[in-house]
Amino acid sequence: MASTVDVKLDFPRYTERLGAASIHAVQRIYELDSGKSKGFLSSHQTIKKFDYDEISNILHEMAIVVPVKEEKLKLLEGVLSGIPNECLVIIVSNSPRGPVDRFAMEAETVRQLDRFMDKRIAIIHQRDPALGELFKKIGYTSILDSSGSVRNGKAEGMVIGLLLAKMYDKDYVGFIDSDNYVPGAVNEYVKIFAAGFGMASTPYTNVRVSWVFKPKVRNNSLQFSKWGRVSEITNRNLNALLAGITGFETEVIKTGNSGEHALSMPLAECLHFSSGYSVEPYEIVDIFEKFGGLIPTNFTRMGEKGVEIFQIETRNPHFHEDKGKSHLNHMLEASLGIIAASKICPDDLRESIQAQMAQISDSAGSGKNTDWRKRYPLIEPVCSVPMAEFAKGVREKAETFFRHGGLK
Ligand code: GDP
Ligand code: CO
Repeated sequence: MASTVDVKLDFPRYTERLGAASIHAVQRIYELDSGKSKGFLSSHQTIKKFDYDEISNILHEMAIVVPVKEEKLKLLEGVLSGIPNECLVIIVSNSPRGPVDRFAMEAETVRQLDRFMDKRIAIIHQRDPALGELFKKIGYTSILDSSGSVRNGKAEGMVIGLLLAKMYDKDYVGFIDSDNYVPGAVNEYVKIFAAGFGMASTPYTNVRVSWVFKPKVRNNSLQFSKWGRVSEITNRNLNALLAGITGFETEVIKTGNSGEHALSMPLAECLHFSSGYSVEPYEIVDIFEKFGGLIPTNFTRMGEKGVEIFQIETRNPHFHEDKGKSHLNHMLEASLGIIAASKICPDDLRESIQAQMAQISDSAGSGKNTDWRKRYPLIEPVCSVPMAEFAKGVREKAETFFRHGGLK
């Protein structure tokens, strides 16, 4: 029988467990597209194959949220071109409205592309005054700043994207940065998300992309480095958190700062999101806090089914905009700060993080008494948002909410 296979990847080599949370070791893609073959010669027990229909069915239930803040329009266009048409695309922008209205340029780019692309795309501005008013009215104030607008920050944009995905009844939501130079890599991320959800044995799943290489230009040549400095330090500290709790050293976590990650809706709607760039590592910390069985929580029913974290390595290298050293320091500080602030962080790790912070040149954290939770406030889980009221408010009041491809 002729069969078509889309993605082929290995099963996790090992899994670390903390209470009801399972963290699978990094998995590799063996074939991005195995083509049309007449059956398989061998059936490897260590390899999972997905055919086109399986992947496609999952993508139909998936929204891809693309956060954007002042990125080159060419890059945004490339990212959109890499997302398969089954997915609903949700762009959440926090680009300046003046003196040059960058958001209007993004909206216009999307409107033009709509003539050539067959995608359903929604775009909204994070600081649309109607969003702020709506959240205030329904009491979802943890996402607002003191002036009543949605706060600046990547996490804040992601949560708006998550709410829109929920409004369109999606079962899965994936996040893909808009500053990616390689549309083929974006296409791979989406397939990786689908493959992760396809492997999951629980409705509560987090799929995180691990980049095979993050190339940098050094002395006029490309260096295919494996890890950025920030990722390396964040991962080391997340692994120390896990080891401090279980008593067993581990290197299982490789995706602490991955901007490309996806959540099943039942998991996404009960997570807290940590402000700004601390959002990605906090996802892992929050899963440990809620499902690790260390502190009492309200999530026992979910605990029975378990929560799975998949980490899947790409074949495409990750090329994105270089935002400079100060941005990286900021990101590192946010990542370490929220680990130290966690109730489940052992005291010696907290002290070690304090010492590491002192090494970050422009960190605010060299002072001992920084309140990290205050600096990176938590956004409440979206399950507390009344969806009918949210949907009605956004559709009727938000002037920056544009929809394409027949989306209602
Ligand atoms: P890095 O790749 O992790 O170093 O971080 P980036 O600065 O590239 O940011 C990741 C993504 O989030 C990019 O697509 C940014 O355009 C986007 N982004 C950054 N800040 C904000 C924000 O405040 N709101 C929204 N909606 N997107 C943001
Ligand atoms: Co980037």
